[in-house]
Amino acid sequence: MKSSKVEKNVTWSLTLCLVLISLITIYFPSCESFNYGQALSQSLLYFESQRSGHLPYNQRVNWRHHSGLNDGLEQGVDLVGGYYDAGDNVKFGLPMAFTVTLLSWAAIEYGDKIASADEYDHTMEAIKWGTDYFIKAHTQPNVLWVQVGDGETDHYCWQRPEDMTTSRRAYKVDEKNPGSEVAGETAAALAAASILFRKTNPHYSRLLLHHAQELFEFGDKFRGKYDESVEVVKGYYTSVSGYMDELLWAALWLYKATEKEEYLKYVLENAYDFGGTTWAMTEFSWDVKYAGVQAIASMLLMEEKHKKHEVILEQYRSKVNHYICACLNLNNASNDNVDRTPGGLLYIREWNNIQYVANAAFLLTIYSDHLLATNQKLQCGKGEVNPNELFSFAKSQVDYILGSNPMNMSYLVGYGSRFPERVHHRGASIESYKENMGFIGCTQGFDNWYGNPMPNPNILIGALVGGPDKNDQFRDARGNYEQLEACTYNTAALVGVFARLYHLQ
Ligand SMILES: *[C@@H]1O[C@H](CO)[C@@H](O)[C@H](O)[C@H]1NC(C)=O
Ligand SMILES: *[C@@H]1O[C@H](CO)[C@@H](O)[C@H](O)[C@H]1NC(C)=O
Repeated sequence: MKSSKVEKNVTWSLTLCLVLISLITIYFPSCESFNYGQALSQSLLYFESQRSGHLPYNQRVNWRHHSGLNDGLEQGVDLVGGYYDAGDNVKFGLPMAFTVTLLSWAAIEYGDKIASADEYDHTMEAIKWGTDYFIKAHTQPNVLWVQVGDGETDHYCWQRPEDMTTSRRAYKVDEKNPGSEVAGETAAALAAASILFRKTNPHYSRLLLHHAQELFEFGDKFRGKYDESVEVVKGYYTSVSGYMDELLWAALWLYKATEKEEYLKYVLENAYDFGGTTWAMTEFSWDVKYAGVQAIASMLLMEEKHKKHEVILEQYRSKVNHYICACLNLNNASNDNVDRTPGGLLYIREWNNIQYVANAAFLLTIYSDHLLATNQKLQCGKGEVNPNELFSFAKSQVDYILGSNPMNMSYLVGYGSRFPERVHHRGASIESYKENMGFIGCTQGFDNWYGNPMPNPNILIGALVGGPDKNDQFRDARGNYEQLEACTYNTAALVGVFARLYHLQ
């Protein structure tokens, strides 16, 4: 009979499946398979949610609308555009620039893989949304506008960006009020982006490079901590590590973009004094870029023309090794290693811990590909690591983020069947402008939306929230900002990694 034949076939296929699954499970423990292509596409949508300014015709995230259209007006400068950093409506220059550097680096390393997932144009749009803004903000060779709005007055209200009534005062750094971190990071972002636009838009690429060179010179010549000049940033994006890492970082990106000896010389001559070859790090973040500097410098070592700088580049290499071995738990001394949660997630600190995980996953992925391409292994105190092991570890962190964790929760919003529903995000937690164009006031947002126990009306697709605590625990409550706030630099770090993992599939 027809039906029994079908049943038999079903039974057979089932048996075959089970056999295959058990085989796969034997060879690849924890073989839960994730859709990295989808994660990549979702990530890029998130940058549209964070857009400030006049939204373009092809804006896909349609619960957002134009906002911040008078930014800079008080100071007589056009600062319309750019990105909100996280769940508030302030535009912070330093993390915005770091976000664009990470996105550009991802597109430089994995552009072909991003393209094969059909996401290259979206990636370039996300980068250009930032670089267009940096060009506007760099009004004179030694003037960079680095913030619009301030944390204190912004946090006093819970409002959609479309309704903002809070102060939109803009802040700048200049010769008398220097800010080498933010000048350096913005230079790095523009230099990295200039590499990407070289072929498709050479005029724009040269413009980016021009701004990058001027900004680096400004940051280097007029040295000073940016949070001393722009005090309102303190408590939000205080620079703990100072500006020397950003200056080295900017010089390296300029070297990559121009191949001019002067930039390499800067990285070599200042290696020791600026801590590039002395700091052994366990963190890579919007504040602390040493591990990134050390990674790029050590990769130069493999090129013949850099052999004459072997001594210093080797010192850089030993320090990036320390960072990578720390992530792998393979440094000899346990306090030289990064803690992990019982579920296996790297754990640096409580507030927005996932940013450190995402940054580590990115750096480890890039470094594993570098080792693979140059046929090297990594020597850690507790043993030797091959590139595949390094990449597997990065993958394990990403898989944890996507749902392979004790809460069975994807920390990438919109991904999978279970993800955070109450992201600490003003725009996403209030009904959209599209649904309700009526004005929603400062405290009205708190009364009607912030304290509302219901899920957010708008899903902030692609946002990567702060994530679980040191015991893998996570509480999906809007007021729980340490775990529920997402930041642009969290997601930016995973774009390249998702593309790399997608390609593997
Ligand atoms: C780490 O420990 C191993 C074995 O005890 C030792 O051979 C190695 O030199 C140590 N490495 C460092 C960097 O201290
Ligand atoms: C996660 O899934 C596992 C396996 O299905 C289950 O045993 C566990 O109770 C789940 N945990 C939570 C917090 O839902």
